[in-house]
Formats: sequence, C-alpha cells, structure tokens
Amino acid sequence: MSAERDYQLGTHDEELQRLGLQHGLWQPTVARGWQAAGFRPGWRIAAIGCGPGFATVELSRLVGPKGHVAALERSQRYLESARHRCESAGCANVSFHSVDLISEPCPVEGYDAAWCRWVAMWVADPARLVANIRAAVRDGGVLVMHEYTHYRSFRLSPSSPEIEQFVEQVEAALRSTGGDPDVGRRMPGLLNAAGFEVTALEPLVFSARPSDPLWQWPASYIRTYAPRLLEMGCIDRSFLARLLAALTRAEGDPDSVIVTPMNLQIIARAR
Ligand SMILES: C[S@@+](CC[C@H](N)C(=O)[O-])C[C@H]1O[C@@H](n2cnc3c(N)ncnc32)[C@H](O)[C@@H]1O
Repeated sequence: MSAERDYQLGTHDEELQRLGLQHGLWQPTVARGWQAAGFRPGWRIAAIGCGPGFATVELSRLVGPKGHVAALERSQRYLESARHRCESAGCANVSFHSVDLISEPCPVEGYDAAWCRWVAMWVADPARLVANIRAAVRDGGVLVMHEYTHYRSFRLSPSSPEIEQFVEQVEAALRSTGGDPDVGRRMPGLLNAAGFEVTALEPLVFSARPSDPLWQWPASYIRTYAPRLLEMGCIDRSFLARLLAALTRAEGDPDSVIVTPMNLQIIARAR
C-alpha cells in the first residue's frame, strides 16, 4: 500500500476519468437499485469507498437539504476529488471522512442507509468491511451493494484469446493482493453474519456492440487496466500490444459483442 493509500487501479487522472465514464453508464441501474431500496429525501446515507464522488453527488441531490451523505474513502486524492466535485455541484449536505474501512473503525453510525460499490472486491477482509457498514447504519437501515460475482462471464464474441487471458490476469492480480473478483457470491453469508437480512438479489449483466455507449465501459477498463498490469509485472509488452490490437480489431467489427462481467446487486436490511 502506498503512502497515498492507493488501490490497485491507481488514483491517477485517467482512472479518475474512467470511474466517471463508468458511473455515467451505470447511472440508470444504480438509480433503480436506490429506488428499490427506498432511498428518499431526508435520509442520512453513508457512501462506502466513495472514490472520486460521482455517485455521492447524486446521493446528495436525492436526500436533499434535510438529508445528509457521509463520504467515506481511504484514498486522500479521491476524497479531495469528491469534495471538489460536491462543492462545484453545490452539494452542502455532504461530510468527508478519510478512513481505511479495514483497519479503522467506521466514523459514522445510525445512518438510514449505505451504498457500497466495487469496494469489497479489493480488500483482503470483506467481513471487516461489512462489519463497518453495519456499524454505519441503524437497526432497520438498508444497504445497496454492487459487487462482481462471476468475473469470468466477461467475454468477447467472436472470442478472443487475448481478452480471455486479460480476464485471467485481472483475476490473478486481484487475488495476489488479497482481493476477490467474485466476492459478490460471498456477500449474502457475510452480510447475514454481520447482522443484515438480505432482502433482494439481482444479477446484473449487460451486452454491448461497438456502437453502443456501454461498449466504452469494458473497453476503457481494458485500456486503463492493461498498462497497470504491465507495470505490476503481470503481463509483458508484447501481450499488451496484442491485447490492444485485439480490442481495436473487435471495435472494427460491428457484430462484435462484449458481455460484461456479472455483478450482483444486493439489498439488505440491518436487523
Ligand atoms: C473501483 S473504486 C469504486 C469507487 C466508487 N465506489 C464507485 O463506485 O465509483 C474502489 C474504491 O474503494 C476504495 N477503497 C478500497 N479499499 C478501501 C478501504 N479499505 N477503505 C476505504 N475505501 C477503500 C478505493 O480507494 C476506491 O476509491
């Protein structure tokens, strides 16, 4: 772990922009999940591992001036980015908390709800993360979580050995630092043990052709993460070149289809 309390994909500008693009493409799905969980004006909501705050701005607007959002994040750079984003958007109902939710206690409690996306997959002790989320919400409070649950479902058609190898390398890199690319499938058990009752589970899988806006989600992921895998020594330059060429080739074929890695949407109520 670097002094900046980085995460594996880094907190550089390109990754920050990728998170923004990703959030924009996921926004309708996220809004549907929040609605299903009953998020409403006046609520106090904890944004767990909020990153640069794209969803935090929307939560702030959703809860309105009588509500509150606590943005909890380990990376100082992302937390500052979230603060700046919220200030620029005129969101005055957000507090910002620099916290490592694995090694430190949760700084807020008694909230009506928590929102947590793509955080558990990076951590070596997801049970500790879940315990901290439970500490953030009141009895009866509700959690909405999105986590990968079957990463290998990430496929390109016509099939590409380079993309398949990339998926395997991403999984191996995550596992080598204690993460779990399929952490979603462990969540119902971990949530139950931490004092949550899971009330709804929904797999989230999408397919996209090169002309679909959603194509940019997996494509930008490959283009951002593959150079990171090179830096980490997981792949070599020749594989990186072949992978990017395979992606560019696929983009030239209007009938290419990417199936995105399966996420699990979990809604749970604190007992
Ligand atoms: C893939 S990003 C997702 C960011 C945001 N949740 C979103 O959906 O856009 C993962 C985030 O989890 C944060 N994170 C990872 N481990 C953490 C920990 N132990 N405590 C707090 N935040 C953590 C990272 O710093 C990063 O911002």
